[in-house]
Amino acid sequence: MAAVPEFPARCVIWFGQPHAAERAALAAEGWQVRGVASDACVAIGMRGSDLVVGLLDLRGAAPGNVEHLQALLEQHRHMRVLAILPPGPYPTPPPLQSLLAGCVETFTAPLDLSSLVQRLQHLADGDETRSPAGAQALVGNSAVLQVARAALRKFAPVELPVLVTGETGTGKELAAQALHALSPRHARPFLAVNCGAIPAALVQSELFGHERGAFTGAATRRLGLFETASGGTVFLDEIGDLPLDAQTNLLRVLQEGTIERVGSNHPLAVDVRVVAATHIDLEQAVERGQFRRDLFYRLNVLRLPMPALRDRGSDILLLAEHFLASFRRRHVTRARGFTTEAAQALLRFNWPGNVRELLNRVQRAAIVSEAELINVADLELLPPQVEMPQRLLHDARQAAERDALLQALRDNAFNITACARTMQVSRVTVYRLCRKHQLALPELR
Ligand SMILES: Nc1ncnc2c1ncn2[C@@H]1O[C@H](COP(=O)(O)OP(=O)(O)OP(=O)(O)O)[C@@H](O)[C@H]1O
Ligand SMILES: [Mg+2]
Repeated sequence: MAAVPEFPARCVIWFGQPHAAERAALAAEGWQVRGVASDACVAIGMRGSDLVVGLLDLRGAAPGNVEHLQALLEQHRHMRVLAILPPGPYPTPPPLQSLLAGCVETFTAPLDLSSLVQRLQHLADGDETRSPAGAQALVGNSAVLQVARAALRKFAPVELPVLVTGETGTGKELAAQALHALSPRHARPFLAVNCGAIPAALVQSELFGHERGAFTGAATRRLGLFETASGGTVFLDEIGDLPLDAQTNLLRVLQEGTIERVGSNHPLAVDVRVVAATHIDLEQAVERGQFRRDLFYRLNVLRLPMPALRDRGSDILLLAEHFLASFRRRHVTRARGFTTEAAQALLRFNWPGNVRELLNRVQRAAIVSEAELINVADLELLPPQVEMPQRLLHDARQAAERDALLQALRDNAFNITACARTMQVSRVTVYRLCRKHQLALPELR
């Protein structure tokens, strides 16, 4: 008898207290809602295939809970989390900022239930990037972006690793998600890990799992990322930071398709596609002996370079409009566009932080803007005032004054009355300035 396919459950873990109407709206769309008091200590039970989304309801959260929530999220690093903020505006304290930085998206109360449900639906469908138009998640029409999009479409169906390169914030992770979305693996998990963010001692266990008792504190067997992502894609961000011993094991995954859990020497077959990203020059890391050459060659077969934002021309404006529109769907703001000067400033700016910086500036501007059109100051794109130190400024003024005086004296053959007329000051002032700048008239004449 054929096995009945097991449909993954869709579950929202609501940290806080959902209102009855909220519970009902989610249930109507097929979401199980599990309310968890935000100060409770929970172990979230889920099957590997379940789709679980966390929802941090900060509408009534006591400030003291922030740390607790942070710890909870740490334990469930692979869970995607949305947050609901109390009605603003209000200053966000730093601990809350770091909590929110880990969230996929934030909504401000009063909650727009239909956008929340829609967002959850997108997540269930594998995010908007997993729609058939995966590459369309990359907003922009510039020639350089078209090239990246074309490469992405070409690489997606090929079962080989991909190395995504590019400066910080250029959309490497978004491209990796789009690649997965367009690949035959799209219905299986896409799991991302930042190799630089895991303590070196835990990397092996995080990626390959461990057996019970493998090391102090390993009380139970734990599956690593490669096993959890079975059938899907593992995205290794900042691959240049992967410690050398983990590099060796990754090479084994790529060459033999097997892993060994820490504390075991039984190879286990895994079926994952590896997409890696780096903003450093891996060739140089190889030359310095920090990155295995053989691993580099394995990873570097299909390379996807993401262009810098400053090279994408008017995409900058398309993206700014896109981010503003998406902010407006989730928050109350008066801002609905940009002034002409603001648009010009956006185009002129050098964007060292690329698309992420643009996103942050637009969101910030949408919050602080008092008007319907965001201006240059809201975006904090005023040209930096050349701040001359006071002393230099004083010296420069004195030198200019002396030059002007000397010029006027020479032009008038050192005749004080005529010089005073040219300078439009009194004769007494001319004498005073000569003394001040130590110009000895008899000698000069
Ligand atoms: N072309 C794009 N269209 C729409 N959103 C984009 C685009 N490129 C990037 N973004 C958004 O910009 C932000 C940064 O992108 P992402 O995290 O993919 O960059 P990254 O290159 O991985 O950055 P880092 O090097 O810092 O890890 C994300 O919020 C992403 O959704
Ligand atoms: Mg990234």
